[in-house]
Amino acid sequence: MAYTVSKLTDFSATALDSAVRDLLSALDQEAEGVLASKVAEPEHDAGWKKRWDEWKVFRDRWIARKNGITTQINELWLKAAPKETKREVGQQVNRLKGEIEGKVKATEERLQHQQWNAEKAVIESTPGRSFATYDEALKATQGVDITLPGIRRPIGAEHPVIKTMNEIIGVFRNLGYSVEEGPEVETDYYNFEALNFPPNHPARDTQDTLFIAGQDAKPPRDRLLLRTHTSPVQIRTMQKMRPPVRVVCPGKVHRNDAPDATHSPIFHQVEGLAVDTNITFCDLKGTLDHAMKALFGSNVKTRFYPSFFPFTEPSADVQISCIFCDGKGVRDGTPCRNCKASGWIELLGCGMVDPNVYGFVDYDPAKVSGFAFGMGVERIAILKYGVDDIQLFFSGDVRFLEQFG
Ligand code: PHE
Repeated sequence: MAYTVSKLTDFSATALDSAVRDLLSALDQEAEGVLASKVAEPEHDAGWKKRWDEWKVFRDRWIARKNGITTQINELWLKAAPKETKREVGQQVNRLKGEIEGKVKATEERLQHQQWNAEKAVIESTPGRSFATYDEALKATQGVDITLPGIRRPIGAEHPVIKTMNEIIGVFRNLGYSVEEGPEVETDYYNFEALNFPPNHPARDTQDTLFIAGQDAKPPRDRLLLRTHTSPVQIRTMQKMRPPVRVVCPGKVHRNDAPDATHSPIFHQVEGLAVDTNITFCDLKGTLDHAMKALFGSNVKTRFYPSFFPFTEPSADVQISCIFCDGKGVRDGTPCRNCKASGWIELLGCGMVDPNVYGFVDYDPAKVSGFAFGMGVERIAILKYGVDDIQLFFSGDVRFLEQFG
């Protein structure tokens, strides 16, 4: 039975005490009742509204000016008290009023905490949100409108350069190659000297290569630079592995070039190295012909054009038949712009490892032979995906990048 304020006839201290005790126990019980209600998660919002409505009913029942219990005890206890007990009763009633208001306020606060905790739980169960302390969660959940839609995290797409790099690596993995990596900050020794670059080669000039400053005290071969190609990984690999070697080395390289539609001071290469007994130029041709067909389609033809690199002898540039005009040099009756009407597109450098290089890694050039190649990843991505500006790869524009998802 719900508590009602009784009319007092006996105003003795004991009778008053007992009436006060009854009232306080009813107050306690009703407050606990308000706090014990539960909200079923599916109706989170409606449920919390209901609980606040319950608290309001509780509040009004106890402290509404018009006929709340505090008003009633004023009427039924204080006003009805005989003169000689007024002081006593007045003190009790005032104390009670304070207690009732305090309880209503405390119930409100506890309910508020319950709600914040529930909201915190909801927020924490959303991926990507967690809080180290309760206070932190409180701060975050206060003023959070949990009815707002959550933060969408669209699934990312592999960057076209990485995607292309992985494709290239995949082709060689299938041929039994493993993957090696090396540092981007290299020494002159690995980037140039051990690769048989003569001391005055133009690539060693600051015009072309980015050197780390303040190293004049070091012997030239120890000076640090940003590697200009992935070929130093050839040396590092041969230093730690004996033949047979079959590796691809993907990575970032740096050159002192001004950026434009076809140049970027930072780009990526995939290096390849195969050293074994009896490796010939035929193996090189067959391997790269297969790789180009795997990357660009089986219709593609390859041609090996004489070239020069200090670390390969003989050296060649590999050209593929133009994928835009099918090697015809003409497209829709007009000269093909992609191959400058030649029908061929130059794609990578390669050659047989120069015997001088074996001298740096303690391989015996009389016993082993091998080939190496290096290709620009952006260049291949540009051709594969028909991209007309290399800068797009580095601009971070989502509208460009999401096309590769
Ligand atoms: N390192 C050369 C470059 O960056 C490419 C290359 C690699 C050539 C391996 C031959 C052998 O241009």
